[in-house]
Amino acid sequence: MSTPTLAELPLPAAFVGMLDSGIGGLSVLREVRRALPHLPIVYYADQAHFPYGPQPAQALHGYVSAIARWMIGHGARLIALPCHSASAASLMLLREMLPETPFVGLEPAVKPAAQASRTGVIGVLTTQVTASGALYRGVVERFAGDVRVITQIAPALVELAEHGDPSSPEGAAIIRDSLAPIHAAGADQIVLACTHFPFLEAAIRAQTHAALVDPAGGVARQIGRLTADIAFPPGDVLYLTSGDPAHFTAQITRLLGDATPRVFAAPALT
Ligand code: DGL
Repeated sequence: MSTPTLAELPLPAAFVGMLDSGIGGLSVLREVRRALPHLPIVYYADQAHFPYGPQPAQALHGYVSAIARWMIGHGARLIALPCHSASAASLMLLREMLPETPFVGLEPAVKPAAQASRTGVIGVLTTQVTASGALYRGVVERFAGDVRVITQIAPALVELAEHGDPSSPEGAAIIRDSLAPIHAAGADQIVLACTHFPFLEAAIRAQTHAALVDPAGGVARQIGRLTADIAFPPGDVLYLTSGDPAHFTAQITRLLGDATPRVFAAPALT
């Protein structure tokens, strides 16, 4: 597949922009598509810079703000960051830098988990940059006063979701190791604070009795509320990747069941 320049991409005149380091945001996209099937969406997978989680917040803000600026310059009317890591690094800064554009981000779903917990212990599966960020600190301070929070930074799970096979023995071992401290502490709720993890849901459920908390539905509803008054042409999803388009096409087909997604190569933006 030859790489079109950004100027040659068949972009709709107005669209919702979504971005993630890879496949994670697709777990939110599928909820958005269920609720709003005709919303034109441009999904940018920054696979050249994958994984986001172990990188410094400043580097991530560089990538994310470059993608956001490019999207806004080409018709994005709202930008969603269906990625906890990108939100941790960049959401507040983007809202300050680009006040004309509404941004929808993700913070770890500590509130519903803390409210639902009967054991008084919740686990949070997440990335390094999310765990170190102000958004996470904020939700723990506001909502987890009465519960113990076990924060488990799980880069191996991100790799497993992006590139691995969760149903393999190796995948099962990675999941077992990641859950061990959460189980040992007696958590009955596990917050999936990385959008890659809902794609491991079946394999995680096979190893835990705890409830899994996924924020995708709430984000989709928020995007629905914020786009209700914006006039969009009817459209569907255009996928961009800064990685390999053939590989990303196969990932979309496997994870979303879309046999013919429109995928284009895009340059890595910084
Ligand atoms: N899907 C991401 C998140 O929600 C990114 C994970 C990564 O690239 O490390 O944090």
